[in-house]
Amino acid sequence: MNNNKGLTLLILDSYYPANGRVDKEIEIIDISPTERADVFIGMARLAPASAEKPVVIYCQTLANGKKEYRTVSAKCPHQGADISRDELNADGNVYCSLHRRPIGIFSEYNHAYLTEKRAKGFFIVKA
Ligand code: FES
Repeated sequence: MNNNKGLTLLILDSYYPANGRVDKEIEIIDISPTERADVFIGMARLAPASAEKPVVIYCQTLANGKKEYRTVSAKCPHQGADISRDELNADGNVYCSLHRRPIGIFSEYNHAYLTEKRAKGFFIVKA
């Protein structure tokens, strides 16, 4: 469910930890805002890729008031459709617009990467 500020309000009782793992910090470059206040797009070198690829960064405000950012590839793991315009659903998933498969962002079986917003930009961090 979305409120009138374009932010997604999750209905999950709790946030599941970000399950994506990296062995070193990864800077996300070429950050751009989207029409949704809680979603950004950028480029990052996610293994096993040897070059930067499009990624989507989602933000949620946790119960303790802190913001948490998570990043996934902008390509759907099913057949590679661009998910960057697909909305984060209140259940913590993005549903790919091509075949409607769920992609976990804040939900239980996610493979999203924990991300920090710093003065110099966004960074995928070791979790
Ligand atoms: S390409 Fe995304 S569900 Fe098939």
